[in-house]
Amino acid sequence: MRNLGYVGYRPAVPVLLNSLERVTYRGYDSFGVALVDHNGIEMVKSLGTVEEHRKRAEHLQGSIGIDHTRWATVGGVSEANAHPHMDCTGDIAIVHNGDIDNFRHLKQRLQSEGHVFKSETDSEVIAHLIEAHGGRQSLVKATKKALKELEGPLAVAVLHRPSRQLVVARRESPLVIGLGEGETFVASDVPAILPYIHRVVYLEDGDIALASESGITVWNSGQEVTRSVHQVAWSADQISKAGYDHFMLKEIHEQPQAIHDTAAEGLPAAGQASATPMLPVEDPSAVLLLGCGTSYHAALLGEQVLSSMLGIPVSARVASELHEGAFQGPGSLAVAFSQSGETSDTITALRRAKDSGYRSLAITNVMGSSITRLADSTLYTRAGPEVAVASTKSFVSQVVALYLLALHLAPERAKAAGIRQQLRSLPSKVGQILANTEAIEAAARGLAPFQHMFIVAKGLGVPVAMEGALKFKEVAYLHTEGYPAGELKHGPFAMLDQNTPVIALVGNDQHRTRMLTAIKEIKARGPQVIAVADRDDAETAAFADVVIPIPRSDVFMAPVLQTVVLQLMSYYTARERGCPIDRPRNLAKSVTVP
Ligand code: AGP
Repeated sequence: MRNLGYVGYRPAVPVLLNSLERVTYRGYDSFGVALVDHNGIEMVKSLGTVEEHRKRAEHLQGSIGIDHTRWATVGGVSEANAHPHMDCTGDIAIVHNGDIDNFRHLKQRLQSEGHVFKSETDSEVIAHLIEAHGGRQSLVKATKKALKELEGPLAVAVLHRPSRQLVVARRESPLVIGLGEGETFVASDVPAILPYIHRVVYLEDGDIALASESGITVWNSGQEVTRSVHQVAWSADQISKAGYDHFMLKEIHEQPQAIHDTAAEGLPAAGQASATPMLPVEDPSAVLLLGCGTSYHAALLGEQVLSSMLGIPVSARVASELHEGAFQGPGSLAVAFSQSGETSDTITALRRAKDSGYRSLAITNVMGSSITRLADSTLYTRAGPEVAVASTKSFVSQVVALYLLALHLAPERAKAAGIRQQLRSLPSKVGQILANTEAIEAAARGLAPFQHMFIVAKGLGVPVAMEGALKFKEVAYLHTEGYPAGELKHGPFAMLDQNTPVIALVGNDQHRTRMLTAIKEIKARGPQVIAVADRDDAETAAFADVVIPIPRSDVFMAPVLQTVVLQLMSYYTARERGCPIDRPRNLAKSVTVP
């Protein structure tokens, strides 16, 4: 779900809907917009597509308004449940991103006081609560009182007819204010408002702000506070498809640049000190790596890489499944991977690690995101805005950041492994794969009819196989398991027949012989085997049905090259199957609720 708001001199509807359109490629289920005009608050809600919503809303007049895209959590997908929600008088309208944990209790209380609810959502209580606290008379004061009663993460924008005011507030959920000349924008993330602004303010937890044409006034804990203004590093061009059919394909092709730019953060010219930001602890006794989805796969890769170099306990955990026993305590370092920096589960896990005495590092792609304010320090990936729901360039950038971390924590071992030189040659190797996709496209056409598939690997390839499987599930709706090759014989062999193709990732490492044995065992059970292997690997070619060649690389960079092949193969399979690649069903780009 996304919140947007505008107050300024332009007609608000085109601004709000253009902004909304820029975030709907991520997939949402309903839309709504509300404006203050001379008749009061006018509101339009729509199911279906943003184009249909635009047609229904374009007659609205006014230069102050809010809008919203919803991803249903509490209450089904319906016009009534779409935001904005109003109070009983129709003078207050709100849009909300987050969860109200105590909404049932509040709703019962408000209903007993005579408030009439029109939706099943938790969000609607906000409008009635503000009304109950005298919002019609003083919006800011009433919003402050209401927020004290609301439990759970929230980012809210409130529109007020009598005063023509726009008030916003945040606690844990993302909210950014864009500052223009004589106009102010509100959004859940920067890409939505990029074409209009160069300067932003990131609100802090507990902030309430009054937005006007001339900027914002912010309060926290009853005091007026000042928040820093940041220049936006991204440009509007970066969120266009630039001639590609899909954002996913464009972002896959941006990977050489993303790798170069991220590596440049931490690879200074020879003879200079590392540019990697100072770590919150230089000599940790243990490292805990956290993330969800794709970011968890980067953490899993990090577990193997850092374990092999540091000689201290290193473990990766799915942030949404963290249990108390995972924490080692003071002296340890927690590293959270998150493209958006807004994933609720990852933020919660990092907070718990900090509460257990860990020092903390965030590896994120989004400047000013919530996780950067929680972590003791931040290492930025320089992938540029990632628009497609499926993470691609952010993953390879996280892997690069991981190697920068290895260079910093274990400089001698990382140097001996040649990490620095390998990172420098990586963009051109990825470029070679991107320049020659025929074999990948042909393999994808072959995979498109199947319902089930395995991707198998050993060692560093296992997280890559899991990440590849996630891509096939997410964009091609092809059920794919990423599996350690040696584990198939402990159960999944029962699934293998000619209807279950297998992709095998074959590297030049200590696992090579076992991988080739695994391919033989798999083929004996009927599946077609597609190997991803070095372009001069004749031995693998003799075993597999098809080989997708990649440039020869060192052990630590092979995961990136294999990943790029799997990204492309999932993309082309999805295209062959006619899937809505940039808008996979049921998914949102960043999951800001627990
Ligand atoms: C993967 O393609 C998805 N976009 C998803 O798994 C994602 O990686 C996950 O939700 C975590 O997001 P984050 O990196 O923004 O924290």
